[in-house]
Amino acid sequence: MGSSFLCIMFMRVLFFVSLSQLIVFTHSSPSIQPLCHVDESSALLQFKNSFSIKGSESSDPLACPKVASWTLEGQNSNCCAWDGVICDDTGHVIELDLSSCNLYGSINSNSSLFHLVHLQSLNLAFNNFNYSQIPSQVGNLSRLTYLNLSSSMLSGEIPFTLMNLTKLTFLGLSSNNFQGPIPSSIVHLYNLEVLDVYNNNLNGTMELCMFLNMKSLGMLDLSHNELSLLIDETCTNATLPKFYGLDLAACNLSEFPNFLRNQDGLQWLSLAYNNIAGHIPEWMWHISRESLRVMDLSFNFLTGFDGQVPIPLPWTNLAILDLSSNQLEGSLPIPPSSTLRYNIPNNKLSASISENSEDSDSPFEFGWKIVVIGYGFGTVVGVIIGHVVTARNPDWLRKTFGMKQLGRRRRI
Ligand SMILES: *[C@@H]1O[C@H](CO)[C@@H](O)[C@H](O)[C@H]1NC(C)=O
Ligand SMILES: *[C@@H]1O[C@H](CO)[C@@H](O)[C@H](O)[C@H]1NC(C)=O
Ligand SMILES: *[C@@H]1O[C@H](CO)[C@@H](O)[C@H](O)[C@H]1NC(C)=O
Ligand SMILES: *[C@@H]1O[C@H](CO)[C@@H](O)[C@H](O)[C@H]1NC(C)=O
Ligand SMILES: *[C@@H]1O[C@H](CO)[C@@H](O)[C@H](O)[C@H]1NC(C)=O
Ligand SMILES: *[C@@H]1O[C@H](CO)[C@@H](O)[C@H](O)[C@H]1NC(C)=O
Ligand SMILES: *[C@@H]1O[C@H](CO)[C@@H](O)[C@H](O)[C@H]1NC(C)=O
Ligand SMILES: *[C@@H]1O[C@H](CO)[C@@H](O)[C@H](O)[C@H]1NC(C)=O
Repeated sequence: MGSSFLCIMFMRVLFFVSLSQLIVFTHSSPSIQPLCHVDESSALLQFKNSFSIKGSESSDPLACPKVASWTLEGQNSNCCAWDGVICDDTGHVIELDLSSCNLYGSINSNSSLFHLVHLQSLNLAFNNFNYSQIPSQVGNLSRLTYLNLSSSMLSGEIPFTLMNLTKLTFLGLSSNNFQGPIPSSIVHLYNLEVLDVYNNNLNGTMELCMFLNMKSLGMLDLSHNELSLLIDETCTNATLPKFYGLDLAACNLSEFPNFLRNQDGLQWLSLAYNNIAGHIPEWMWHISRESLRVMDLSFNFLTGFDGQVPIPLPWTNLAILDLSSNQLEGSLPIPPSSTLRYNIPNNKLSASISENSEDSDSPFEFGWKIVVIGYGFGTVVGVIIGHVVTARNPDWLRKTFGMKQLGRRRRI
């Protein structure tokens, strides 16, 4: 009896000791990470190992420092603690960010990436996937809300299965080599807030209305593909998305989309490199009066202005206005004092411009940094606040106006 009592006491002490050790252990661990699932850590490693990482063997600053911590050995074997990986409370991998990691190689359809079915956020932007396609297995990652594959040397068509990912709020596919159509089933992605397919080779004719029916969209960039957007006015009376960014450059538009009249939150708008001919309608000057920062109408066939052009233009926060390379005639629209860049070469606008900023009669004393004015097809650059005057120097222009639209590679 005495011995069994002792035995029980001993076991209690043991239990207490191990319990307190456990408590001490968890309290002393620097950051409590959920424990990674073995199949997911090996899927991550397999995925990483399916690429060569340029410079990974050396101390090349271009190499991916993130994956240095990826190992199954010793203390670092918990993948939830690896750089670029985030787990939920149950230890499932929900975020993977290997952007700018110099990953080089193809993403194959049997890639272990598609075993990570708990992923909610995947960023593989700025890698080199060797012109491989997005495998249709991407449709398995049905919990994704964020998918960023920009500038990653991907090609082929956008897989239909991508449109199964109805939780997506962000889809970034810009600056790859994607071809073919944007699947019309993209309207199934009704939670999408950002759609960016800028600078690919996507082609085909699409209804603008299709995108206007995606009510959550705030940013839409279809620019610099080979798309042709059709404007059907019957959807413009519907409740529209409220855009903050809209880039429809080089979308074969031949008119100003009417729905813009009702947009009051735009920060940047580009309709550059389209086929819009004729006059700029009066209502255009009044859209998004408080929010608009960038307005780009360059490289169209605009010839003039309808009705009254307000002086100065009523956009109170405008920073950049680009009307260059049209056929605009008449007097120069005067942008507001907030304007930093006003680009108007290659037009037929007339203006008398004083290079002397002390001249108080000058209509150009708005604190603009630089104004570029075209007389006919010759380019005269007038720098209002005093310095350089250059003529016919496109390199200088490009540097000074290093906006993304000037750097773009083609026009339709
Ligand atoms: C890249 O693609 C080319 C052509 O398809 C192929 O020959 C080469 O092996 C690929 N390289 C890698 C690392 O996958
Ligand atoms: C995956 O497919 C590629 C070719 O498509 C093949 O070379 C590779 O061995 C496959 N990997 C596995 C794990 O099956
Ligand atoms: C994708 O999901 C399907 C059905 O849910 C499953 O049969 C298939 O094995 C999954 N593929 C991969 C690569 O995980
Ligand atoms: C995609 O991810 C890269 C790297 O994090 C980032 O620089 C880029 O801005 C993202 N794309 C968009 C459209 O936000
Ligand atoms: C994903 O999309 C494809 C083609 O669009 C469809 O055949 C498939 O049933 C979808 N899968 C799921 C799980 O919804
Ligand atoms: C899109 O491009 C592909 C090849 O680049 C071509 O075969 C197809 O006809 C084009 N589609 C349209 C609608 O122009
Ligand atoms: C561009 O739009 C015009 C009509 O405005 C049409 O005739 C032409 O075929 C379109 N171009 C392409 C490449 O779709
Ligand atoms: C817009 O109004 C027209 C006629 O006023 C109607 O035929 C059309 O169905 C409406 N469109 C939407 C999307 O409500």
